[in-house]
Amino acid sequence: MERIALQVGRYQVLESIGTGAHSRVVRGYDPLIDRPVAIKLFPPELARGEARARFLREARVVGKLSHPFIVTLHDMGIEESTATPYLVMELVEGQPLDKLLNKGSVPFPTACAWVAEVAVALHVAHRRGVIHGDVKPANILITEESHTKLTDFGMARLASHDKMDTSLFGTPAYWCPEQIIGRAQDARSDIFSLGVVLYEALTGVSPFSGESLQAVCNHVLSSSPQPPSRSNPSIPPPWTRSSPPASPRIPTSAWTPPKPSPSSSTPRSPQASAAIHRPPVHPPHPRRPLPALRVTRLR
Ligand SMILES: Nc1ncnc2c1ncn2[C@@H]1O[C@H](COP(=O)(O)OP(=O)(O)OP(=O)(O)O)[C@@H](O)[C@H]1O
Ligand SMILES: [Mg+2]
Repeated sequence: MERIALQVGRYQVLESIGTGAHSRVVRGYDPLIDRPVAIKLFPPELARGEARARFLREARVVGKLSHPFIVTLHDMGIEESTATPYLVMELVEGQPLDKLLNKGSVPFPTACAWVAEVAVALHVAHRRGVIHGDVKPANILITEESHTKLTDFGMARLASHDKMDTSLFGTPAYWCPEQIIGRAQDARSDIFSLGVVLYEALTGVSPFSGESLQAVCNHVLSSSPQPPSRSNPSIPPPWTRSSPPASPRIPTSAWTPPKPSPSSSTPRSPQASAAIHRPPVHPPHPRRPLPALRVTRLR
């Protein structure tokens, strides 16, 4: 990952945009269509064996999602000369929400509007049977027109399988209770994480902060966050109670959302079902010690 290939497939690699825990995003150029693109480059481990098949499968699932609030996947491939798997996406000119939140909370109406858009994006994905698995501010891009684009569907799952040592993936501050205790996640897990994002956008602080991974997990599992109005007194009254992550002892899978009407339900493709119904690598056990993780960001 140190050296950036100058070309992947037909795409020119121009400059680095940013680096995450498991990938790097670069600004690129598609000479065939004559347009700028964002290219996500993965390490060579994903170009081999079962990981390769999983990369291609996951990308196909994500590539079927299409919505203005979801970053569009244009293309994918593996540059064989450097064993670099890559995803080619629409280039979003704007800022990731985590950078904006570094400056503090965002105004109440703006936070609500952005989170509502992400909720729509998740709804679209969930109806296709795809869970995101890593809803967090860094994966919510804010466009120059102040709309949201959700990115990195399924990418944390790829990274966790790459390491093969844990069923935990994503970012600890946004983990839902069932993820911590090793139960399978479903659409409600994404909604829990979005609740954490909303809390953070409204207050500028995380509802489940802690000095260590263990402390964050204990907080998610066993204590209620402060009402958001404690940190931001300008939040209007109906919001002064704790926001959605306020019932951490109840796994999100313990409540059931209303069933969609038969006319609005979309049948799941076999690939989409595969994307969400992966059993945890470890048997569920509430008290099992947390595995060592490469954690890049604790909020
Ligand atoms: N389609 C895109 N257009 C423009 N910038 C993007 C796009 N996708 C990602 N980025 C930016 O690239 C940078 C790196 O993204 P990346 O997903 O690799 O890391 P991350 O989300 O910060 O961390 P993580 O490894 O936990 O996913 C981020 O700053 C992100 O905002
Ligand atoms: Mg990301």
